[in-house]
Amino acid sequence: MGAERDKPEVRTVVHVHGARVPPESDGYPESWCVPGRSVVYRYPNQQDSTLLWYHDHAMGITRLNTCAGLLGLYIVRDSFEDSLNLPKGPYKIPLVLMDRMIGEDGQLYYPVSQLPDSPWVPEYFGDCTLVNGKILPYIDVEPRKYRFRILNASNGRFYFLNLPDKSAAFHQIGSDQGLLASPVEVKRLALAPGERADVIVDFSGHAGQQIICSNLVSPVLQFRVSAGPVQDGSALPDKLRPVPIPNEAAAARTRRLTLAEVDNLLAQPMTHLLDGKRWHDPVSERPVLGSTEIWEFLNLTDDTHPIHLHMVRFQILDRRPINVDSHLFENKLQYTADAAPPDANEAGWKDTVRVSPGSSTRILVKFDGFTGRYVWHCHILEHEDNEMMRPYEVVGRVSAQ
Ligand code: C2O
Ligand code: CU
Ligand code: CU
Repeated sequence: MGAERDKPEVRTVVHVHGARVPPESDGYPESWCVPGRSVVYRYPNQQDSTLLWYHDHAMGITRLNTCAGLLGLYIVRDSFEDSLNLPKGPYKIPLVLMDRMIGEDGQLYYPVSQLPDSPWVPEYFGDCTLVNGKILPYIDVEPRKYRFRILNASNGRFYFLNLPDKSAAFHQIGSDQGLLASPVEVKRLALAPGERADVIVDFSGHAGQQIICSNLVSPVLQFRVSAGPVQDGSALPDKLRPVPIPNEAAAARTRRLTLAEVDNLLAQPMTHLLDGKRWHDPVSERPVLGSTEIWEFLNLTDDTHPIHLHMVRFQILDRRPINVDSHLFENKLQYTADAAPPDANEAGWKDTVRVSPGSSTRILVKFDGFTGRYVWHCHILEHEDNEMMRPYEVVGRVSAQ
């Protein structure tokens, strides 16, 4: 949908990922415009401090526009965060990770399939990792605490960041939608496309050393720590912002939504669908403004899909393995093990959740904000552009469901 030949080749619409904004400023995929036109969007910024990001969301070609560079950071600040005395100024550094293919001509490269009627590829993986647009860069740091705000802006790549044993560790203080209740030490920091992590790294025991941050075993970024000592007046507080314990009883209903592949020989490569529906099928998720719901994603595929809802923030309740075959062939939901709570560094406010293969993943969402039409989708951009996106509509309190 949306990438047909009759569409203008150059078109875009901007979405601020994680922002609570009225629908007319959210960047609805079909609201793209062409060069020479402009639109005014208004961002209320009425939400907790966190790292958001903006990117293209044009129907059918988000993967291309975003890969070409239409993305950036959008930071919301507040006085509560300021009062925590976290590292600031030059000691607060955003890190935008993305992988790219670069051709022999030094230009960005995006592949096409061999099929003229379906020229897309199922996922895009580049052989170069870029940090803030540079391949394998280094940062000169002082032996003290730093705050790194990390975004995975890749089309399809997941990162599993780690620092060498016995060196500095990641102390995660925030997830997608803001501060955690307290810092969590993380050995391997998993980030799916669209996810963010706010971390403190203390280089104070490492004066004069060079420390490499890797993705699994591939280097991503080097820290060159200067000789010390230096003064560090910043803090890594034990307590950050209180996060409520999720109250399942507050949910007005549970929606069970499948993530599944369609085995259609005409669809090359594989199409993934949400709840068995395509983009243009009628809206089926119509939560009431101010109500709370549980969305239970049933992943019947072999891949992890990072599922993102626009406008809202949510909490992850649990993940639980399911019998995929009995769901596929008998339409029966059968859990095969106990439910596991989210990782400690996911137990804050989120807007994108990794839904593991063969699992049920449940989130608790309050539809606070605005009424109107939004979208939810997989944040692997090749999946999103290939039908793994659905509209949803927040309706007024008086409307019938
Ligand atoms: Cu990062 Cu629909 O968005
Ligand atoms: Cu978004
Ligand atoms: Cu996906």
